[in-house]
Amino acid sequence: MLTLHQQPDRAETYRERHPYRFDPVLNCIGVFDADIVAAVFRSDKFDVVSFADQYRYICEKTDLDFAATVAAFHHIPLANEGARHKETRSEIASIIGEDSRERMRLMEDFVAEHTRRLFTAGNEIELADDLTKPIFLQLFSMWLGVDHDNLVDDPNFSQVFDMKMSLNRRKRINRNVGELTCAFHDRREQIPTTPEYATAMNILGNDALKGTISLSLWNVLMHNQGVRLDSIRYPRNMPSTGVPFIERVAREDVEVNGMFVAQGQRVRLYLDATAYYVSGAEHDVLFGKGKHVCLGKPMSLAIWRSLTAALSAIPLHFTTGEMRMRAGDYAFNCMDYARVKIHD
Ligand code: HEM
Repeated sequence: MLTLHQQPDRAETYRERHPYRFDPVLNCIGVFDADIVAAVFRSDKFDVVSFADQYRYICEKTDLDFAATVAAFHHIPLANEGARHKETRSEIASIIGEDSRERMRLMEDFVAEHTRRLFTAGNEIELADDLTKPIFLQLFSMWLGVDHDNLVDDPNFSQVFDMKMSLNRRKRINRNVGELTCAFHDRREQIPTTPEYATAMNILGNDALKGTISLSLWNVLMHNQGVRLDSIRYPRNMPSTGVPFIERVAREDVEVNGMFVAQGQRVRLYLDATAYYVSGAEHDVLFGKGKHVCLGKPMSLAIWRSLTAALSAIPLHFTTGEMRMRAGDYAFNCMDYARVKIHD
């Protein structure tokens, strides 16, 4: 099922298919068990999906130009293995690692202040645009040294990971990726890396961060209707994820915790099935494990903890309003909007 990760009643399906089940529509094994997911992440018998090769294939078949996307994937660690993976991971780690303590403190202060300013009596907040977008812009402006507000017309580029979207949408996302890389070329002197790496970081962090934070807060609020903001017991880790699954391909015939995977078989690791507002239990695989573990994890957690600490000190009530998930999204769980009204 292409959009299983977006179905409101998916917890039931996840339970039915637990621990794993072959999906003939997707032609892959869906994995729904946190221990098997972690074991696959840690195994050296699986490779990440070679997105660049898949785009090269689309170029050949359609005679369309996806060069911007192919170049971006060449700089994205989770689309590469071996020496290229090490090289790309270490470049991005050096940018994120620079002054990391000081920068984390700056972000925590920004998030706390931003939250206090937004969550005031009478205010209607839209979680995607008002809360998480400014946090993303602040973080990436700090990491990459250029103001990210209005850097490009359409900041939708994380969806390059979506291998099921229509060709028209793919063309649009490719154009966005190209425009973003050009924007960084124009600001080359200011950024601490090449335009391609700056683009790669934006692709990796954008929907993942915004989707995960908005959805996590939304779910916490939905589970605490009627409770005052300062009386909610906020989970330390984000309870939901904007990255509902990650895929791997078996390099050779392999058995993982009783699951047999033939060489070349794709497995879809449903991180979403392990998130505790879906499955009922908290598991720590939402940022991956092993050599591809997320480099944005410490900062993303610091942002969540600062946000929830600030909310814990706000003696106000809230009412949840309308929420809509981004439609036709086969890779991320992001919202178009989620409205929350704050009152005494
Ligand atoms: C809450 C937000 C985020 C979530 C849920 C998330 C999730 C993940 C996951 C599941 C992976 C593992 C992918 C795999 O093993 O194939 C990953 C990898 C990665 N993430 Fe994040 N991520 C988040 C935020 C960020 C941010 C803000 C950045 C900043 C640029 C980032 C950078 C990366 C990088 C560079 C990798 C690849 C590491 C590698 O392949 O060696 N992430 N992320």
